[in-house]
Amino acid sequence: MTNDNLQILTIETTCDETAAAVVNDRLEVLGAVVASQDKLHERFQGVVPEIAARAHVERILPVIDETLRRAGCTLQELDAIAVANMPGLAGSLLVGLVAAKTLCLALNKPLVAVNHLYAHIYACKIASGREIFPCVGLIVSGGHSSIYHCMNAFEFRQLGGTIDDAAGEAFDKVASMLGLPYPGGPAISRVAQSGDPQAFRFPRAFLRDDERLDFSFSGLKTAVRYQIAGPGRPDFRAVELAPQTIADLAASFQEAVCDCLVGKTMLAAHKTGLRTVCVGGGVAANGRLRARLQDEAQRAGLELLIAPLALCTDNAVMGAIAIERLRAGLVENLDLDVFPGMVRL
Ligand code: KG4
Ligand code: ZN
Repeated sequence: MTNDNLQILTIETTCDETAAAVVNDRLEVLGAVVASQDKLHERFQGVVPEIAARAHVERILPVIDETLRRAGCTLQELDAIAVANMPGLAGSLLVGLVAAKTLCLALNKPLVAVNHLYAHIYACKIASGREIFPCVGLIVSGGHSSIYHCMNAFEFRQLGGTIDDAAGEAFDKVASMLGLPYPGGPAISRVAQSGDPQAFRFPRAFLRDDERLDFSFSGLKTAVRYQIAGPGRPDFRAVELAPQTIADLAASFQEAVCDCLVGKTMLAAHKTGLRTVCVGGGVAANGRLRARLQDEAQRAGLELLIAPLALCTDNAVMGAIAIERLRAGLVENLDLDVFPGMVRL
């Protein structure tokens, strides 16, 4: 499909945000809605998959309706329906996929698949209006921490990733240990502003290993746990800590995560020879990470594009990557399935 003036509806339900957007082939956003479920998962201090899936069922149609209303466009005026069908929570993914397929069937419109991780990187192109490929892509979210060699909108080669927790997951769990609210990333980042990042020396897994582009955050999480509780004091709770100690723990933890993410991203650029680095995902909203990446990229003479805050956490605007697939004729049959794990699209 090469005709101009394409406009598509994109649907995003991979985790705990129900989102939709209408975007066109100039990557303009005509309307977008994100319904966050943070309040539903707050008391569990993490996303409960079954609750997420049920909430998507309730919200998906109102979110699509409101998106179309904001875009001032009817279903008939759409050229295709795009949906993120990987990776993510199986039950959550299914809700978006069924909604998209139903619209395609009823309207006789093409269905386009979106890889949620690729879309996180594509957010940098949407926001900057610049060509971003080829680039090193760092995706840091609640479920993923991976580095890719991004050839184009369709081909990403993984260079490294976490062998255990994702960076956002570590932020959420450490925030919970520190008695901070969910989601943990913004809470830690806020508290860390008055903390000393050098107060505690936490581990930085693989950082000195120039052969690996991997991360591991579970040891770091355990180190924070021991710093709070100490061996033999498993029930010690952070509420008993002085506010300054909590701030110092948050800042020291955040610094350790940033050192690893920044160090491996720079190593990936060095190893691949790529001169552009794109960063996306919820953790890319972290102010300290953004500043550290900017410093290091400038020092290394790299072009750095970080998704703007509104496009870091999950949203459907980044699903505009589907325009590239639509243009290339990459449309799906209605037997398309969800892929909770990562597979090649
Ligand atoms: O990309 P996202 O919305 O969902 C997934 O695909 O996982 O990322 C959510 C994650 C959560 O773990 C949240 O704590 C983290 O992003 N996050 C942050 C910040 N804002 C959100 N982490 C660190 N600093 C932040 N400012
Ligand atoms: Zn995400």
